[in-house]
Amino acid sequence: MRRKIIAGNWKMNLTLPEAKAIASGLKEKVSSQTAVEVMVFPSALHLHAVAEILSGSPVITGAQNAYPAVLTAMTGEICPAQLSDFGIKTILVGHSERRQFLGETSEICNEKIKFFLNSGVRVVYCIGETLAERESQNTFTVLKDQIKKGLFGIESAKFKDLVIAYEPVWAIGTGKVATPEQAEEAHAFVRKEIGALFVGADKVAESIQILYGGSVKPDNIASLLAKPNIDGGLVGGASQKLDSFLGLIK
Ligand code: 13P
Repeated sequence: MRRKIIAGNWKMNLTLPEAKAIASGLKEKVSSQTAVEVMVFPSALHLHAVAEILSGSPVITGAQNAYPAVLTAMTGEICPAQLSDFGIKTILVGHSERRQFLGETSEICNEKIKFFLNSGVRVVYCIGETLAERESQNTFTVLKDQIKKGLFGIESAKFKDLVIAYEPVWAIGTGKVATPEQAEEAHAFVRKEIGALFVGADKVAESIQILYGGSVKPDNIASLLAKPNIDGGLVGGASQKLDSFLGLIK
């Protein structure tokens, strides 16, 4: 049985007081009795404060990005060893904004995923097609390529620390959510492709959590989660207000 996850990606939004206020609200309302696993991905600048507020709470604080190396000369970057000072052991990889605007390819994602998993970090790997790719009937080719390249060479035993987030780019921040049927079709495909990665991968495919992201709101989350292959949501806008974040968790 795959546990559902509600993850909030705060992107480059929120001031420090705003981030702290949401974290405090989550700390108050989310308990070990909460059915879903809750994660937040604040700006790197806010990680320390947010992780401190959420310490002792089941809410997981994760980083939106990191560099795949140990402590070294790499100006402007942060690495898992530094994140672990704050107890941070979860990292997003391959968000479409990083793919589109910062040149993060599936090959770079693969390097990061391997390094982070080998460092004992849990990874949420984001994939998804653009509107042009969907309209030209290339959705499944793109997803297959992102899975094959991004997950190339990852050992079976490491998959327990891997979560996939399917985020169609055309649904991100647009208010245009994929229908539960469109999302389910993509999730089922992703699960099938993971199952074909290596001999015996069908078991990891069955247990891996696949989140949907793209204009998820409290009023559409239930219909998405009702689908058999949708194991949670990676949420931008609606996670950046305490009320709607709590609405999603409920
Ligand atoms: P929105 O929920 O704002 O569409 O963002 C989705 C997203 O990119 C989460 O990573």
